[in-house]
Amino acid sequence: MDIAGHVVVVTGAGQGLGAALAEVATNRGAAGVVVADLDLDHATSVAERIGGYAVHADVSTPSGIDTIIERARERYGRIDLYISNAGIGSRSSVFASDDDWTRHWNIHVMAHVWAARALLPEMIQRGHGGLVNVASSVALSSQPEMAGYNATKHAALAVAETLAIDHHDQGVYIGCACPQGMRTPMLLGQLHGAPPELAAFGLANAIEPLDAATRIVDGIEAGRFLILTHDEVQTYAQRRAADHDRWLGGMRRMYQHLATTDDRP
Ligand SMILES: NC(=O)c1ccc[n+]([C@@H]2O[C@H](COP(=O)([O-])OP(=O)(O)OC[C@H]3O[C@@H](n4cnc5c(N)ncnc54)[C@H](O)[C@@H]3O)[C@@H](O)[C@H]2O)c1
Repeated sequence: MDIAGHVVVVTGAGQGLGAALAEVATNRGAAGVVVADLDLDHATSVAERIGGYAVHADVSTPSGIDTIIERARERYGRIDLYISNAGIGSRSSVFASDDDWTRHWNIHVMAHVWAARALLPEMIQRGHGGLVNVASSVALSSQPEMAGYNATKHAALAVAETLAIDHHDQGVYIGCACPQGMRTPMLLGQLHGAPPELAAFGLANAIEPLDAATRIVDGIEAGRFLILTHDEVQTYAQRRAADHDRWLGGMRRMYQHLATTDDRP
């Protein structure tokens, strides 16, 4: 799906990958870019920098999604491509509270469902439009102590796959980006204060958000469903699919080694 001449919405665009996606969309000739975020100051500063339109909204509620869509339509008349990028990266084991789990579920899954529900009828009628969900490489894998993050990113991929099966032939482009490490405030915050070996592991192969955004927008413009920022993720996914038990053994060994260097609570 071409970006040039199209109106693009990016959620979670106040910083990190979202801000980079908004910038790349602008540079590819988008007719308008909506920079939506919970943090209005960040969204405003990105919008001013790229000539976009800042919208303050919380994607964890249906009314927040409605606000983004209404404000985008008021400003630009239509939405051609909606990128559900907003995410949270807190630890989320099974011992996290139900409120934490619900927050992960709403931001990583329902935000995409609510946007699709609101936008699909018009896109199907026009035979044109696109919905992209930014999941994660963990949608094709899993990380320790992050059950809520892992589960909701797996679900995000499943929702996107279903939409792609159901609506591709109606002219709607569906994509799912599964980035691996990117040097965004999310990753840097997670690694802040971590033991050096763990931090080095987390940062190994982490790429700049602008490079990740360029790969993702390339994937969108090529019309690909699964968009990776790191080629090796394809290999990991293939190994996991080929022998799940072997893959789990490897994950346990790797993280047991790293855990011995992690004294965080
Ligand atoms: N950074 C990584 O290494 C990495 C790896 C894989 C996937 N991802 C995914 O990429 C996406 C972007 O991550 P990032 O690293 O840029 O994160 P980030 O924390 O740096 O930025 C996320 C942005 O989303 C906004 N946001 C959070 N909750 C929101 C809400 N309820 N409503 C509106 N905005 C909200 C934040 O204010 C922030 O501006 C996320 O979905 C994340 O899960 C990140």
